[in-house]
Amino acid sequence: MEKHNWPQRGEAVLMNTFKRDGKVMVSGQGSFLTDAEGRTYLDFISGIAVNSLGHSNEKLVETLVNQGQQLIHSSNLFWNTPSIQLAEKLTKLSGLGKVFFANSGAEANEGAIKLARKWGREVKGPNATTIVTMKQSFHGRTMATLAATGQEAMHKDYAPNLPGFDYVTFNDIDQLKATIIPQTCAVLIEVIQGEGGVNTLSEDFVQAINEIQQEKQVLVIIDEVQTGIGRTGSYFAYEQFDLDPDIITLAKGLGGGFPIGAFLAKDDLATHFQVGDHGTTFGGNPLATACANTVLDTINEDNLLNNVNQRHKQLVEGLQVLQAKHPTISSIKGRGLLIGIQFDQAVDDIINDCFDQGLLVISAKGNVIRFLPPLNVSEEEINQALDIFGAVLSTQ
Ligand SMILES: Cc1ncc(COP(=O)(O)O)c(C=O)c1O
Repeated sequence: MEKHNWPQRGEAVLMNTFKRDGKVMVSGQGSFLTDAEGRTYLDFISGIAVNSLGHSNEKLVETLVNQGQQLIHSSNLFWNTPSIQLAEKLTKLSGLGKVFFANSGAEANEGAIKLARKWGREVKGPNATTIVTMKQSFHGRTMATLAATGQEAMHKDYAPNLPGFDYVTFNDIDQLKATIIPQTCAVLIEVIQGEGGVNTLSEDFVQAINEIQQEKQVLVIIDEVQTGIGRTGSYFAYEQFDLDPDIITLAKGLGGGFPIGAFLAKDDLATHFQVGDHGTTFGGNPLATACANTVLDTINEDNLLNNVNQRHKQLVEGLQVLQAKHPTISSIKGRGLLIGIQFDQAVDDIINDCFDQGLLVISAKGNVIRFLPPLNVSEEEINQALDIFGAVLSTQ
């Protein structure tokens, strides 16, 4: 293929905020991506848990074309049918009565933070605006979601940090209880920390959250941006825990690759937002919400939650065989198709070797490699990934 020097051209004109691999991806089909050199890769990154139906999914492409021909955008001055249909589906699936559509995970969390603070001020008192989040959490890159993100290293260059966030070690019940004060309006948490290392909430911690919610009048906000929309084997990961969230936030897999975010709240809580209290130009536009409708319909029609659970079992069993051969694997974590393989050594070389051998995987904090295949990944593709991963580990 003709050389266009895309990486050099990109470096010349794009801000240097991403650690990019040199490859230029030009097309995708199902679980595979193809680069400009014509090399094909088994994609177990899925755009970082985004391409839930794989690449160039036929139904999603059809939706893009049909809805694109009909109506792409008309503004929130008017109703549009795909957004109402999507809100009906999400409220039915979650039991939470109202939705606000945004464009990304950070925006979904930003809106949830605003709603929680408005509720706190109106219900608990003028100073009840503090939100408790977890250390090693990740909630986004806007100023509020950055402040919510419990990673000091990310805050330091952007001081002053937005005030009103307290941080607790994940699963540390004593710290959580000690951190809740009369000014606390909400706890914001991922039930499985994705970027933070595929760490799962303990049952005791869930219990402590429930007690705080009931006894201290504190809202529970679950960030399902990475774990939601089937990724962990249920529509929402919180369903697998004994939790009763007041707000959940979504993005990533919801649009199957088309940008969309959302937050849902219980009916009573949602009444604290009235006309003018929050807004967006693009959020809930017909094209984005039509794509999300197709994602949800396909998960349902193709029984993809069942596939996620079957492929989880197959993947974990295969990884356990590899773990027995390679004791540098210290644990296999996660649920559904959000799997973390923790090593007792740095993982960059392993990931690079996987790329060289045609398997795309991604790191998470704490020497973890994440496998995030599409929800419709096949049995054969899981075996293929295990073969490549096993071969790479044998050369380490
Ligand atoms: C749990 C969680 N919340 C929020 C975000 C931010 O989403 P976005 O990058 O769409 O703003 C991410 C992104 O990785 C995430 O994993």
